[in-house]
Amino acid sequence: MKKTLALALAVVMSLGLLAGCGPKEPANNGGTSNPPSSASQPQGGASSIPDAPAGGGTVGVCIYKFDDAFMTTYRNALQEILEGKGYKVTTVDGNNDQSKQNEQINTFITQGVDALIINPCMTSAADSIIATVKAANIPTVLINREPTAEQMAAYDKLVYVGCDARQSGTMQGELILDTPNKGDINGDGKISYIMIQGDPENIDAQYRTEFSVKALTDAGMEVEELDLQRGDWDREKGQTICANDLAQFGDQIEVVFCNNDDMAIGALQSIQSAGRKVNEDIYLVGVDALDAALNEVSNGNMTGTVLNDAVGQATAAVEQMEALLGGATFSSGNQSVYVDYVKVTPDNVGDFMG
Ligand code: BGC
Repeated sequence: MKKTLALALAVVMSLGLLAGCGPKEPANNGGTSNPPSSASQPQGGASSIPDAPAGGGTVGVCIYKFDDAFMTTYRNALQEILEGKGYKVTTVDGNNDQSKQNEQINTFITQGVDALIINPCMTSAADSIIATVKAANIPTVLINREPTAEQMAAYDKLVYVGCDARQSGTMQGELILDTPNKGDINGDGKISYIMIQGDPENIDAQYRTEFSVKALTDAGMEVEELDLQRGDWDREKGQTICANDLAQFGDQIEVVFCNNDDMAIGALQSIQSAGRKVNEDIYLVGVDALDAALNEVSNGNMTGTVLNDAVGQATAAVEQMEALLGGATFSSGNQSVYVDYVKVTPDNVGDFMG
């Protein structure tokens, strides 16, 4: 990967190109977490090849809320990678309050940080966040909640690092299709499911909801949605929604789709309290590959999950931040860098466990 970067740099230098006018090939060389072999490299990235800075600058990291299982793994990875490279890092908790996060961004700007990494509280705040960082001319990496390409086009020192959530939804559907009865446990010719959704304002929740079911119908299966409710990525809400649905629909429920693992772990508690047995009389899938979910997949208490590669995304975010610090600019339509999801099944779960 270093070779690619060096080669690209040589091309830029030999052509005498200025930052922002470089070749369109991805400049990023982001890594992935466990297992690196099965996840492909991020797509997209800087449109010019910068001189890599030596590190040592100051970075402000805004997280939408600390009390989120997946974002906790992500922010710890960010902190470790940045500090390992010699940056001075301050990470702040937005408490899921956009106005509070706006103040935190302004404070970082006043303090003169060299770069910002922002996980917005609300996707709908993207325009104002982008306007703020642009006015302050701060290189910024947005993470986890993807704005539209049009919104990002407003500022060329801005990049988004995340995943294409359609892929994770499709993989969840495939996990169900891979079961012996393709999710139709009672053999009535249709898959009856409940959908426990994340925060529906988040594109990850929208796409996972849509594409998990689409994978089933694309495979020619008939589906029946018994319930769809927002669980806001939250374990307790996942548990409550699943308990209520089990009380209402009982054995009719064949599949429990959860937009993330934390809600799936909550749902599992309700499934077990109701005396149901995952992979025998009900299927359960999540996304993220949290340690708790990996354990449950390994124990047969979850049908599967999908690795949402926090370490890979943190690595790519830092790489893109360094590209920006080195003077890279991003052209419109080339401002999203995606890290691949990976399907986690009982067969390969061991590869993901520490
Ligand atoms: C993760 C969720 C997390 C959410 C936060 C999603 O990509 O799968 O676990 O709560 O991001 O925005």
